[in-house]
Amino acid sequence: MIEKKIEAILKELTLEEKIGMIHGSGLFRTAGVERLGIKPLYFSDGPMGVREEFQNDKWIPLNRGDDRGTYLPGGSAIACTWNPSLAHKYGQILGREARARGKDVILAPSINIIRSPLCGRNFEYLSEDPQLAGSLAAEMVKGIQESDVAACAKHFVANNQETNRLHVDAIVSEKTLHEIYFKAFRDVATKAGILAVMTAYNKLNGEYCSHGKWLLNEILRKEWGFKYLTVSDWGAVHDSKEAAEAALDVEMSVTSGFENYHFAMPLLEKIKKGEISETHIDEKVRNILRTMFAIKKLGDTENRKKGAYNDREHRAGAYEIALESIVLLKNEGVLPLSKNLKKLLVIGDNATRLHAHKGGSAEIKALYEIPPLLGIRNRLGDLEIRYARGYYVPEKETSARHWQELSLEERTEMENRLNEEIKAKQREYLEEAVALAKDYEHVLVFAGLNREHDVEGADRKDMRLPYGQDELISEVLKANPNAVIHILSGSAVDMSAWHGRAKAILWSGYLGMETGNALADVIFGNASPSGKLAQTFAYALEDYSSHAIGEFPGGKRVLYREEELVGYRHFLKNKVKPLFSFGHGLSYSEFSFSGFTHEKEGNLFRFRFNIKNIGSFDAAETVQVYVQSEEGEPRVLKAYKKIFLKRGEEKQASIILDEDAFSRYDEEAKRFAVKKGQYRIFIGTSVENIIYRTEIEV
Ligand code: BGC
Repeated sequence: MIEKKIEAILKELTLEEKIGMIHGSGLFRTAGVERLGIKPLYFSDGPMGVREEFQNDKWIPLNRGDDRGTYLPGGSAIACTWNPSLAHKYGQILGREARARGKDVILAPSINIIRSPLCGRNFEYLSEDPQLAGSLAAEMVKGIQESDVAACAKHFVANNQETNRLHVDAIVSEKTLHEIYFKAFRDVATKAGILAVMTAYNKLNGEYCSHGKWLLNEILRKEWGFKYLTVSDWGAVHDSKEAAEAALDVEMSVTSGFENYHFAMPLLEKIKKGEISETHIDEKVRNILRTMFAIKKLGDTENRKKGAYNDREHRAGAYEIALESIVLLKNEGVLPLSKNLKKLLVIGDNATRLHAHKGGSAEIKALYEIPPLLGIRNRLGDLEIRYARGYYVPEKETSARHWQELSLEERTEMENRLNEEIKAKQREYLEEAVALAKDYEHVLVFAGLNREHDVEGADRKDMRLPYGQDELISEVLKANPNAVIHILSGSAVDMSAWHGRAKAILWSGYLGMETGNALADVIFGNASPSGKLAQTFAYALEDYSSHAIGEFPGGKRVLYREEELVGYRHFLKNKVKPLFSFGHGLSYSEFSFSGFTHEKEGNLFRFRFNIKNIGSFDAAETVQVYVQSEEGEPRVLKAYKKIFLKRGEEKQASIILDEDAFSRYDEEAKRFAVKKGQYRIFIGTSVENIIYRTEIEV
């Protein structure tokens, strides 16, 4: 039925009209065909909420008063919830807001694998593990699309660094792609019915992703059966013919010469000269129209959802996600702090800094953002709080041009201007904080990175904390060993200088508008933390596989020689001890386990066990199932379940392993196949903390 309608529309369209539909006619829209009732397709960033409005052809904000929206946590935070229903809720909020703002395609979620902790956009991405990333991404997408908005998974594929992101050639074996880097994209395409995919800037095995005949035609379209919209990253197309003959539907870019885009006049001319067949264009238009029907922009338009903007429920959702994203890395009897404190010292620039409106296309003009200090005041009104900034963050020079306008050029790296003046200020701030820390019994430090470091377009140079924070934290801990340290960062940072001395360490990614309220609730015990790391925290940068082999960030090419040994897989296989392992995260409560059994149900294996909350807090534990296929191979995550228990409560829980858990990519047959044999099963509360082992025959 819809296919017939699509063919009928296609017959009506002139070549020029079709061309208008396949390239940007604004920074965030294509051209419509008014005479046929086809409206432009409206896009918007991005993963942490709906981005502010820009002029049609310039990166100049419209400064509208009505585009402040719900600011959601970033991907690397959300992943720590290990809670698919919260990923779904995130999607629902984002989808509703996008719809209410009149968008058709929301450029989210960002689902690249975290290959190195240095990648500037890790704060948007989910995890180093494909199973965790894929399962959460699928729920995000389903949630978004409930509002008749297309989710757009990005950046397909192997966009695992920002250094030379426009041209770097990622050399990755087919097997590694299928096992690791494709997985989340495959999941959203085959399990969540995603309606849009964004091609990455970089090359994959010698070919730009946006020109990728194998990547787009063979894998995405044929193998995964994807029939909807593919859109280039902004400025990722380099050749009309190559991209037109690949299964890329829409070219978007960052400049305002829309008629000069590769898919505009240059393509039109080539078609007229007979150099490119018009059938390619028809296919693109079909995919675009099919997507429009799916989101009810065409067809059943009357029943298209209206969405909701800045809804109270959205803020409640943002809080819930933030709360479950917080990871308690270490706690030697210090947390939670008592709500009856009289006096508190709060240290650190991140206690007051706002992060929403920075860091690249994921920036958000937030309705509000509650930083930690404000959250603590909200929750403990009559507490006497002294605040010391602790470390000095030099102001960055601002450019007259918008960053995105500059984003296609090599961006000159802004060095920390650690001149004498800055050093002196840092010393002054540090001394003030350390002197105060001696006088206060209760001290909270809010340290970490900000969106100068967790940023699109640049990678970090190393894993160290900037602005002299290692020294600050070490000195504060000497002055007050009970000081609680919260580190905010998009991905792992080096804590080796002081982690041994700290008694309590909390970590989180960017938590969105409700940051401060969520953190205050965890710190003062209104809620038990339940986040679990979605990436390994190492002692040193060289402990990560991509760095151990010297392949990050590479030069023109970067060889993914570590293959599947990304993240904890490498740490296990090569016996490297992490500082905090994948899946780790403490609670204020404790849990006991008993009665593990398993049974085969058709092709599934069901594992049952009893779990009891034996501590004094209502809390949650995430039970993780790892599968090892062969002796010497690392165990890998295949299933997990977050279980909520009131204090004293006991439940029987079960976790299922399906066939996917035992299938591996067979390079010769070019497909996944279940490998028969003995498998070892490890059930634990992190990849290292295994509480039950067994073997099964598949
Ligand atoms: C980013 C994309 C983003 C696009 C539009 C690009 O620079 O890589 O993630 O969606 O800009 O703002």
